[in-house]
Amino acid sequence: MNITLRIWRQKNSDAPGAMQTYQVADVSPDMSFLEMLDVLNEQLTVAGDDPIAFDSDCREGICGMCGLVINGLAHGPNDMVTTCQLHMRSFSDGDVIDVEPWRAQPFTVIKDLIVDRSSFDRIIQAGGYISAPTGTAPDAHAAPVPKADADAAFDAATCIGCGACVAACPNGSASLFVAAKITHLGLLPQGQPERDSRALDMLAQHDHEGFGGCTQIGECTAACPKGIQLDLISRMNRDVLGALSHRR
Ligand code: SF4
Ligand code: FES
Repeated sequence: MNITLRIWRQKNSDAPGAMQTYQVADVSPDMSFLEMLDVLNEQLTVAGDDPIAFDSDCREGICGMCGLVINGLAHGPNDMVTTCQLHMRSFSDGDVIDVEPWRAQPFTVIKDLIVDRSSFDRIIQAGGYISAPTGTAPDAHAAPVPKADADAAFDAATCIGCGACVAACPNGSASLFVAAKITHLGLLPQGQPERDSRALDMLAQHDHEGFGGCTQIGECTAACPKGIQLDLISRMNRDVLGALSHRR
């Protein structure tokens, strides 16, 4: 396959960015999208040009580091995959593919396709934890968890913090991410002591970082590679209302 790429290039967060066009020849349909970018970067490096900066780590859909807007879609055209799991067989010979970074006010572009997602770390620091007593490990069955709650908590815990939900949301909201983290811990007995403060503090940090509010559009869940469901945001809102009522 011969592919034309139009890629966002930006030297740093202060410099203006622009789309630049590149050609990549002999692309195998079995290459991942990131491997195809690796090939382009080899070409650029050999030619003495600056390679394209993009994030990745595990390249198997579990770390949440990769994230590109491909032809206007967060993580590209395929459902339930991260950018690193997208393969070139999803495209056709002769395609022109636009590649951009996550676009959201709190996700400042560091360089080219890499954005600063440390706002997610600060949201987790605000409340995405439990208080666990130190000492001997408790018996595994010391705190029984109903199967339905364990399953739902596990589903919420599959959020990898990639930020596609933000990139896809017209409001630039990170509500799906925050809701997944609040739900994961709030469904388990170990998460109960901080349940109220967690909901209030994580949402306050979300707003402080500059993410927008949720108006239930649903683009987040459509873009989410882990299938995090929109009803978790309703659950988060119930937790926030409950926490506020307990404060009276
Ligand atoms: S909710 Fe989905 S899209 Fe958002 S950060 Fe988590 S895994 Fe990524
Ligand atoms: S590189 Fe880890 S999820 Fe894509």
